[in-house]
Amino acid sequence: MTERQSIIKAVVPVAGLGTRLLPATKAQPKEMLAVGRKPVVQYVVEELQSAGVGQILFVTGRKKTVIEDHFDTDPELVRILSSGGGYAMLEELAYTETDTRFYYTRQSVPRGLADAIGHGEEFADDSPFVVALGDTIIKDHTEPSLLQEMIRVHLQSGAACTVAVEKVDAEDVYRYGIVKPADGANLSADFQVTDLVEKPKPEFAPSNLAIAARYVFSPIVFEAIRRTAPDRNGELQLTDSIRLLIQLGHQVRALPLRSGEKRYDIGNFESYFKAFIDFSITDEKYGYLIRQYLKRKTREF
Ligand code: UTP
Repeated sequence: MTERQSIIKAVVPVAGLGTRLLPATKAQPKEMLAVGRKPVVQYVVEELQSAGVGQILFVTGRKKTVIEDHFDTDPELVRILSSGGGYAMLEELAYTETDTRFYYTRQSVPRGLADAIGHGEEFADDSPFVVALGDTIIKDHTEPSLLQEMIRVHLQSGAACTVAVEKVDAEDVYRYGIVKPADGANLSADFQVTDLVEKPKPEFAPSNLAIAARYVFSPIVFEAIRRTAPDRNGELQLTDSIRLLIQLGHQVRALPLRSGEKRYDIGNFESYFKAFIDFSITDEKYGYLIRQYLKRKTREF
């Protein structure tokens, strides 16, 4: 991919209240909950960096300033670790020493995901950009990565929006935004989307392919967001804005997660606990011990 064809900007919304994870999120953002060794949002930033995204705008809210601190250098801590011989621990701070430029803007009232993305209009400055939800990890060992493939598909197809999708169980579709693939679409590669439904009842779901927290948008999305009507809770839903793009005649494409890729939505305790287990059993240093521990525990169930 040449420089001209790449996307270097991402908007990461982190302004939600995280009410489903109370009390853990009473005074700290859910995006800062640790999964294995790192907070959720660090996985998100590293995924963006690996895909060549070097400018990241966080859409933050109250109680989220700790995210800003997490990605900032900390000369005091570095000095203490250096003078105390804590060189191994110093390596754990290498993630703060990158060329990535972080920007912050505030969504004072969480009026929905589309409203949060709307705060990125000046930052995007008429260029296509990635949106990565700050509470969702994509575990990915594939080369090129899911995000790199999404960027390629988006730029080659000329789509207004490209979403990642993941197959979910039919009884779980009510939790997600579900896409309707074009008739006859080959669902093992990227395909055209003709409609989207937010949290449908299983009998009304147009497929079992759920939008998986990663998007690439062309700047036309800001026009769609402005024209999106609030839902009955007064929130602007991103699925409604994408739907509007389709109704306005723009192309929306979807790219399914490939085998070996998995989405971890750290939005509720069940998926948070599962994510923590999966990341700890694959931990380089402690994985073996945790697997042994779990084997012993399962015999007790
Ligand atoms: P969610 O809808 O899952 O987050 O948004 P939430 O609203 O914090 O969750 P609950 O329902 O209260 O438990 C997914 C991502 O979008 C961000 C969230 O911070 C999260 O990372 N978001 C959501 C915003 O930035 N602004 C919003 O208005 C809503």
